[in-house]
Amino acid sequence: MRTEVAIIGAGPAGLLLSHLLAQDGIESVVIETRSADYVASRIRAGVLEHSTVELLESVGLGDRLRREGDEHRGIYLQWPGERHHLDFVDLTGRSVWIYGQTEVQKDLVAARAAAGQEIHYEVTDTALHDLDTERPYVTFTDVDGAAQRLDADVVVGCDGSFGPSRAAVPDGVKDSWERVYPYSWLGILADVAPSTDELIYAWHPDGFAMHSMRSSTVSRLYLQVPNGTDVADWSDDRIWDSLATRLGHGHDGWQLNPGPITEKSVLPMRSFVQTPMRHGRLFLAGDAAHIVPPTGAKGLNLAVADVGILAPALVALLRKKDPTLADSYSDNALRRVWRCTHFSWWMTTMLHTSDDPFDAQLQLSQLRWVTSSWAGATGLAENYAGLPIGF
Ligand code: FAD
Ligand code: DHB
Repeated sequence: MRTEVAIIGAGPAGLLLSHLLAQDGIESVVIETRSADYVASRIRAGVLEHSTVELLESVGLGDRLRREGDEHRGIYLQWPGERHHLDFVDLTGRSVWIYGQTEVQKDLVAARAAAGQEIHYEVTDTALHDLDTERPYVTFTDVDGAAQRLDADVVVGCDGSFGPSRAAVPDGVKDSWERVYPYSWLGILADVAPSTDELIYAWHPDGFAMHSMRSSTVSRLYLQVPNGTDVADWSDDRIWDSLATRLGHGHDGWQLNPGPITEKSVLPMRSFVQTPMRHGRLFLAGDAAHIVPPTGAKGLNLAVADVGILAPALVALLRKKDPTLADSYSDNALRRVWRCTHFSWWMTTMLHTSDDPFDAQLQLSQLRWVTSSWAGATGLAENYAGLPIGF
C-alpha cells in the first residue's frame, strides 16, 4: 500500500488529522489496534475549549455539537462553606462546550466514513521504519492476519500514550519530562440529571471532587482517591456519600442527586512531555507526545490543537514542497503543550489534598485569590477556555 500520510491511531488526533488533510486533497491511511466500537465507546474527556469548537465548526464538524452540546459560561470553584462562579465569557469573551469525547469520535468516524477514508481497525505488530529518509513506511498485521506494508511521504504518530511512535524517536534525539502525582481519580457516569448547571471543582480535606455532566440526564463525577485504589472497594453508596460530603450537599440548600451508576473506573494522573514532536519524516500529535492530568480538561483539546497546527504544515510540505511550517511544527506545538502542562499541573496541585497542613493553607489562599481577584480569575479563565490555536 502507498499513501501520502500514514496515520497511526484512530483516536481524535488521528481521525481529525485525516479529515483536515482531506480538505486540502491530501490522502491518508489510518491504522488502529482496537475495534471501531471500542474506540467509539471509550469514556474520556468532556470539555471542549473555545478554539477546539471553532476548529471543528470550520471543517463541518460542528452541527451536532451546536445542537446537542451544552455551552457553559464558566465553572464553580469551591471549598467547604464557599462556592464561587467564574464567568469565562465576562472575563475573556470565550465559553466552553460540554460535548463528550465519545460524541466527537462519532462525528469524526461519520465524516471519515462519508468521505471513504481508509481505516484499518484491529491491526497488530505496528512498526515504524526509515523515518529519517524521505521514504518512511509502517508495517502491521491486518485483522485477517496478513502482513502489510504502508509506504508514505510522512508518518504521523497519533497512537496515544501506549503506542509505538513515541519510542521510534531514537535515544539521544529525544528528551522527556514527567511528573507522577500521588493520587488518582475515581470517575463515574450516572443516569441522573446533573445537580448543577455548570461544572463544580471542589477542594475538600477528604480530597478533591468534581461534578461534570454529559447531558441533561447523564452526570459525570470524580473523586480523588489514593494511587492503587481498587474500584471494588468503592460501593455505589460509598461513592455517593463521599461525593455528597466533598461537594457540599446541604450547604445553602444545595442537593446532590444520586442515581444509578453505569460506569466506574480509576484513572492515574501524570504529566509527561516528549520532545521534539518531530523526527525526520515522523511527526507526533496528541497523547503520543504528551499527557496531562485531567484537572484542567486539556488532553483532548491539546490533541486537537496539535493537528490544527500540523495539518497546514503537512499541506505546505507535500503540496508546495515548502518545509518551513513542518520545521517549526514541534516548537509551535510545544509552546501550547507547555502552557497546558503548566495549567493542568497548577489546577491539579491547587485542588488535590495531601496530609500536609501547610500545603492546604497555600491551596486555600490560592483559591481565595483566584475567586476574588479579577487578575487571578482571568488567568484561570484564559487558560481553561483556551488560548488561540496559534498561541
Ligand atoms: P487517543 O485517544 O489515546 O488515541 C490513540 C489511538 O491510537 C487509540 O485509539 C489507540 O488504540 C491507538 N493505538 C495505540 N497503539 C497503536 C498501535 N500500535 N497501532 C495503531 N494504533 C494504536 N482528557 C480530558 O481533557 N478530560 C478527561 O476527563 C479525560 N479523561 C480521560 C480518561 C482516560 C481513561 C484517558 C486514557 C484519557 C483521558 N483524557 C481526558 C485524555 C484524553 O482523552 C486524551 O488526551 C485524548 O484521547 C487524546 O487523543 P489522541 O487521539 O491523542 O489519543
Ligand atoms: C471532565 C473531565 C475533566 O478532566 C475536567 O476537567 C472537566 C470535565 C469530564 O469528564 O466531563
